[in-house]
Amino acid sequence: MNRRRFLGLGASVLGAGALAAVAGPSAARLLVEGRPGRLLSSELDLPEAFQVPLPVPPVLRPVLSDATGDHYEITQRVASVEILPGVRTEAWTYGGTFPGPTVVTRSGRAAMVRHRNELPVPTVVHVHGGHTPADSDGYPTDLLLPVGSAAPPRPAPMADMPGMPGMPQTEVRAVVGERTHTYPGKQRAATLWYHDHRMGFTGLGVWRGLAGFHLVHDEEEDALPLPRGERDLPLLLTDRSFAADGSFRYPVADPALVEPGVTDAYMNGVLGDVVLVNGAPWPRLDTDRAHYRLRLLNASNARLYRLALDPQPAGGDALVQIGSDGGLLAAPVAHDAIEIAPGERFDVVVDFSRYPAGTRVRLLNRFGEDRAAEVMCFDVSSRPVDDDARVPERLSTVEELNASEAVATRDFRFRRSRKDGWTINGRPYRPGHSLAAPALGTVERWRFSSDVHHPVHVHLSHFQVIGRNGEDPGPWDAGWKDTVDLRPAEAVEVLVSFGDYAGTYMLHCHNLEHEDMAMMADFTVR
Ligand code: C2O
Ligand code: CU
Ligand code: CU
Repeated sequence: MNRRRFLGLGASVLGAGALAAVAGPSAARLLVEGRPGRLLSSELDLPEAFQVPLPVPPVLRPVLSDATGDHYEITQRVASVEILPGVRTEAWTYGGTFPGPTVVTRSGRAAMVRHRNELPVPTVVHVHGGHTPADSDGYPTDLLLPVGSAAPPRPAPMADMPGMPGMPQTEVRAVVGERTHTYPGKQRAATLWYHDHRMGFTGLGVWRGLAGFHLVHDEEEDALPLPRGERDLPLLLTDRSFAADGSFRYPVADPALVEPGVTDAYMNGVLGDVVLVNGAPWPRLDTDRAHYRLRLLNASNARLYRLALDPQPAGGDALVQIGSDGGLLAAPVAHDAIEIAPGERFDVVVDFSRYPAGTRVRLLNRFGEDRAAEVMCFDVSSRPVDDDARVPERLSTVEELNASEAVATRDFRFRRSRKDGWTINGRPYRPGHSLAAPALGTVERWRFSSDVHHPVHVHLSHFQVIGRNGEDPGPWDAGWKDTVDLRPAEAVEVLVSFGDYAGTYMLHCHNLEHEDMAMMADFTVR
């Protein structure tokens, strides 16, 4: 990690927590509302909202299904895609589309996904929310080098890897061309996603297009009368900026892509001025007067959204949450608005029959300014429809972990350090140095605390939020989570249960610029 870029930073990038500490309580209240990131403007004219129909990513078909499970293949390659109408954008893609194809798997059945890298850069594939053996999880130095790269010595010092400077102590397990990830499927139905996870370059890889859905289904969910088929919609929310030539604009620190991260001005996160849903700018959907399941995923690098429908239907509570990161809730929770941080998912059901035909219902981002205040719209149609979907009062059994089961309590402090950039417990990320070694089969109580906003993500195991600043969990903390947003100067306590797999995994901030600039740590389940 290049320390130079973290020196000499002015007050504009000082953390809100630090500012609050010097500026007193009223400024503190103001800053608690403050969100991370800095806007990077596009260099071309932006299209009007609600012109482009909502695309739905294609579902990936297995190339083979046999007794061992379902086998899939994805080729990572550069593709020219049309995101802004009439403008070509060169993207880094999974299979030629942005977002990538949706991988759909069954609980209890293994999926083997073979990735082939035809991109000009090394990549790492991670299934976010996946309960995955360590060697398939996408450890950030388990590089998949481009097809045709010189075979690396194994294991190789990181200094010898393209785009992996400055860490000669660390060994990289790199392979050339193709790598197969095994997902055993020991997890319940949930909305997961896969994305690039290369050390130091995750923000760039995801921004350029390396993200897609991975949905897990199971019998419990199948048996419920929830909306399905065309009324079960995955919605991948991102923000992007575009250069004059139509390419994605992103403030890399080093145009040669050797030094990781972004320029100083953007170290608190990059915000785009174009909101994309499934890769389309401010799209619209012709919507039946019926129930829809919306699988909301915030795949943005740094942007926080407060999502709400406008108008609200009479009586409010438009967004009926049925699931969180780790699958179905025990019982639905109705919201007027949902705050969703990078990496988080919310499964909601919206009953559009609560609106008169002809209503244009906008999905708004109450945290967004200017164009970022709108996300997409639903045009409620007048055609008569069949709809027997509904939200039952009981959805699932969610076994509640009890704090008394915890065999250890650990603190993870997410802070900006003047010297080292973004740190956990005062340390910038160093592969191979675990901050915790929980025992397989145990439950631990982990306490995350912040200076500014940090969406904290734990690999391998979902967790349950048991408190915020010593009080009850917040309105969006229900169910099994793998990502939780810490607000400025907040301590969030969670219970994590370590089952099935031993090995080394990550926890990190999911603000991808924070992650790339070292806010990441290993833990090793033993
Ligand atoms: Cu979605 Cu370690 O990441
Ligand atoms: Cu993850
Ligand atoms: Cu962060």
